[in-house]
Amino acid sequence: MTTVRPDFVIEQNWRGYSHEEHAIWRLLFERQQRLLTGRACREYLEGLGGLDVAASGIPDFRRLSDILDRATGWRIVAVPGLVPDDVFFAHLACRRFPSTCFIRRRDHLDYLQEPDIFHDICGHVPLLMNPVFADYLQAYGEGGLKALGLGHLRRLARLYWYTVEFGLIATIEGLRIYGSGILSSAGESVYCLDDPRPTRLRFDLRRIMQTRYRIDDFQQLYFVIDNFQQLFDATRPDFAPIYQEIAVLPDLEPTSRTDRDREFVDGRQKKNWAAHQRSPSLGRKRLEDVR
Ligand code: PHE
Ligand code: FE
Repeated sequence: MTTVRPDFVIEQNWRGYSHEEHAIWRLLFERQQRLLTGRACREYLEGLGGLDVAASGIPDFRRLSDILDRATGWRIVAVPGLVPDDVFFAHLACRRFPSTCFIRRRDHLDYLQEPDIFHDICGHVPLLMNPVFADYLQAYGEGGLKALGLGHLRRLARLYWYTVEFGLIATIEGLRIYGSGILSSAGESVYCLDDPRPTRLRFDLRRIMQTRYRIDDFQQLYFVIDNFQQLFDATRPDFAPIYQEIAVLPDLEPTSRTDRDREFVDGRQKKNWAAHQRSPSLGRKRLEDVR
């Protein structure tokens, strides 16, 4: 039996992947490539280009880390699955991104509860090629260790969810995706931008810390940033007093609205809204096609 190291790091065992596993990766990769032009933010697409991952199959973490390290000083470490919070934060604080090694099976291409290697690598790693985002995630790791000590992890976890996993970004070309949970999901990459149902609010740190999230369905609520620098600057202040402030306020649901909410609207959903009203079943079908 192998013992678990305290940092939970294991060997990726890249040579151990089967043809089928590499084939599943290529399938997912090609589908997302097609979908993400015009949907993912520039920083993501540039990062992906610079990494030269993976049209050919599951990447070797060592090779990938060498490229990433040269760009922003981050490396990828293999872990067996979800790791304890303190371990996760400690890795981020040291600019190490923990990634799972297993890949989803062909009969679960579109739905799984736990992150797999496609989500971790294709969803998260390209953004770490961006210097500002790279600094943000390290700061988040440090902030995580601090929040754990203060007993406010629930609030900080919401920030991760609504930015790193499900964040949207307003660009001059229109609304784009930077959240990794979306970037690794074919269905949600379309839904989050085009569907009229979810609410899109301007980034608001306190609002995010107050708001619960769902892990079992497409999001009903997204937060929109203007750029990574805004995100970095807004999260730079000491959170300790902010946690205190939020602690006395009630939790909000993704469907709750407050007077302070600033909604983000662009032409994109309006156009689709018209199509949606004319023929709802067609709209639905189109979404399901890509799931
Ligand atoms: N400024 C935060 C704190 O004092 C740390 C943090 C930075 C958290 C960036 C999240 C993201 O706790
Ligand atoms: Fe993730």
